[in-house]
Amino acid sequence: MPVYRYPVPPASEITPKSVFLNRRAFMAGAAGLALAGASGTARAEEERQKLATVSSPLSTDETPNSYEDITTYNNFYEFGTGKGDPAKNAGSLTTRPWTIEVGGLVNNPGTIDIEDLLTKYTLEDRIYRHRCVEAWSMVIPWAGIPLASIIDKFDVQGSAKYVAFETLVRPEEMTGQNSTFPILPWPYVEGLRMDEAMHPLTILAVGLYGETLPNQSGAPVRLVVPWKYGFKGIKSIVKISFTEEQPPATWNMQNPREYGFYSNVNPNVDHPRWSQATERRIGGGLFASRIDTQMFNGYGDQVASLYEGMDLKKYF
Ligand code: MTE
Repeated sequence: MPVYRYPVPPASEITPKSVFLNRRAFMAGAAGLALAGASGTARAEEERQKLATVSSPLSTDETPNSYEDITTYNNFYEFGTGKGDPAKNAGSLTTRPWTIEVGGLVNNPGTIDIEDLLTKYTLEDRIYRHRCVEAWSMVIPWAGIPLASIIDKFDVQGSAKYVAFETLVRPEEMTGQNSTFPILPWPYVEGLRMDEAMHPLTILAVGLYGETLPNQSGAPVRLVVPWKYGFKGIKSIVKISFTEEQPPATWNMQNPREYGFYSNVNPNVDHPRWSQATERRIGGGLFASRIDTQMFNGYGDQVASLYEGMDLKKYF
């Protein structure tokens, strides 16, 4: 297994402890509010205990979007194509029991149980910028596990160059997989290069605002790669495999001219039908001014070296 090394985040990106503590208090309050209506306090308390997290220096200091914004404006085509459809329809998904099958080029193939993921790994609070290819963005406080720490347990073979991911197929519970007109080929699939998967910014998210993920956000476990467009963040994962060849990725297969495999946030490479130079931050109101999109979504110091020497106009 090769060893990957990364530049440490610049001091400006490391959150001072006082700021973090305030943020924790703010997040706990917001999660409490969000839960009060939706679920019993006992369940909320149980979830919070499972989601005992440590802070990550990789968080941004930007103010997170509200729980409401993050959980009512979603893309999750298994539950319909409208932004409000996942919040309306995803309640039908059963997320327990849940296992992820891990295989391909590994010496220890096996499964990961969601309960083990919540209790046996170190969960971290990560406030990340989330930039969608449709040119909107949010700031989201995830709780997640660095993917590298999960991958290490399966003893990946040296020939593995990529990681492939698959979403659940369960048409009885996923209305979009049942639709009379085909929305997408199922399962939704995605992939990363091995060094991208091992990068410390890459996490499997299991929580949001201090509670377990709501279904519309990809419960019980989804990928988050903050320097890439949101569609790389595959939701409700049931399979992870290691491959020598570049794995298929849903949007890249649907329309390779519009969606590349890498999908790094890049203000200099436009989508064929619209510019990627600016973005609309959700929650700022319809007339809020657009903000400039940053190369690699602002994570350039940490990830630019992964793509040294690559023509990012070709490998978009
Ligand atoms: N994963 C699955 N399984 N199905 C989907 O339709 N949509 C993707 C990605 N992951 C999608 C998915 C897209 S296009 C985006 S922008 C993000 O999820 C949206 O994540 P969010 O709803 O948490 O903002």
